[in-house]
Amino acid sequence: MHVLFVAGARPNFMKVAPVLAAAVERGAATTLVHTGQHYDAAMSGVFFDELGLRAPDHFLDIGSGSHAGQTAGVMTAFEPLLAAVRPDVVVVVGDVNSTLACALVTAKSGIPLAHVEAGLRSRDWSMPEEVNRVVVDRVSDLLFVTSPDAAGNLRREGYRPDQIHLVGNVMVDTLLANIERARARPTLSRLGLHAGGYGLVTLHRPANVDDPDVLAGLLGALGKVAEQCPLVFPLHPRTRARVEGRLPAGVTTLPPAGYLDFLALQAGARVVLTDSGGVQEETTVLGVPCLTLRDTTERAITVTEGTNQVIGTDPERVVAVATEVLARPPRPRRPALWDGRAGERIVEILLAGDYGGHGRRPTDITAQTARTAPPNAAPATPRSVAARGR
Ligand code: UD1
Ligand code: UDP
Repeated sequence: MHVLFVAGARPNFMKVAPVLAAAVERGAATTLVHTGQHYDAAMSGVFFDELGLRAPDHFLDIGSGSHAGQTAGVMTAFEPLLAAVRPDVVVVVGDVNSTLACALVTAKSGIPLAHVEAGLRSRDWSMPEEVNRVVVDRVSDLLFVTSPDAAGNLRREGYRPDQIHLVGNVMVDTLLANIERARARPTLSRLGLHAGGYGLVTLHRPANVDDPDVLAGLLGALGKVAEQCPLVFPLHPRTRARVEGRLPAGVTTLPPAGYLDFLALQAGARVVLTDSGGVQEETTVLGVPCLTLRDTTERAITVTEGTNQVIGTDPERVVAVATEVLARPPRPRRPALWDGRAGERIVEILLAGDYGGHGRRPTDITAQTARTAPPNAAPATPRSVAARGR
């Protein structure tokens, strides 16, 4: 059995790592492809070093670009590679443009496709990731889901039960494997912080950081929250230039943090304010209150069974809810199967080899997700075409 894994952007590396490790452990032949969607040391290299990921077998060197440019670039580079490697199955993770591009190429190659983190739905079509999620699921043979609500989404959209596998959360596998190493690091002391004495912020969604009004409102709210609890804010490269010179007192910015430092920062935080997908899940497992600065989440289980609240971007509401959570933190719970063994479960199913390719994809999906935005969803934000930045 030969399994090809695709990774391209920051949130892919910690998802691929446990599945790849389990496949190697079980004796499968493996190929690791890095598309190069993220390429800075702080957005890519550090995760290979810290997670013990081997160097990619193939680096596509795609870099930044418009949605179409980036997706097409990955597709064009991946197609001949896939034809040459001819694995038995391709595994894609998450919802970034690299996931979409490699899924589309695989779907037309006749090689079975497995999607890890399938079935998540924000129902906000202004998010590029929502488009990617729905399309990737539609062309996948195997759908590995993190939670019962994701499985329910897929069933409602007409996927066959035998395609859907509730396996747990690979991001949590990586968290649990690394949390003690993270806690042992001098991350907090180096920054002059102590556990429970600060809040942590991340922002990178285009709807928040590319819209100057929304961003100004959020920065104002962060300033007010920082009057009660100092905030630390590692800056995603998309966000960096947009906030420079505009940060309120009490908010300390950092470069993008490495995985272990960021885990340590999350574990010690009194509250996390974020628009990240993965951070909603990690705070749930760490039992740290999370305020999601968006109108929707695709990770509903972190609200129903975790520490997450989806509070939107209205500055007054952000300050009011943060004040409340600082005074009364929620009681932590952890979703079933978020136990560190999702990668093993996935590989068990992959190695069984019972996924037969195109013939098993549903041909009659009648209940697709409605293509309408929720009433209060932010309008689609055009993406800037950036230079390659290397
Ligand atoms: C991408 C994903 C998003 C994910 C995020 C994780 C898509 C559509 N979006 O968003 O789902 O949550 O990654 O972090 O796939 N840049 C650098 N260095 C890098 C990478 C990017 O400077 O190593 C800068 C470039 O100016 C680039 C911008 O960041 O144009 C955005 O990068 P891009 O990968 O297009 O989107 P993200 O916002 O990172
Ligand atoms: N992360 C990190 N350093 C940071 C911010 C995030 O290592 O400065 C990690 C975080 O712990 C999680 C993943 O990156 O594992 C989430 O990625 P991101 O927020 O970029 O993307 P999303 O999950 O929103 O797609």
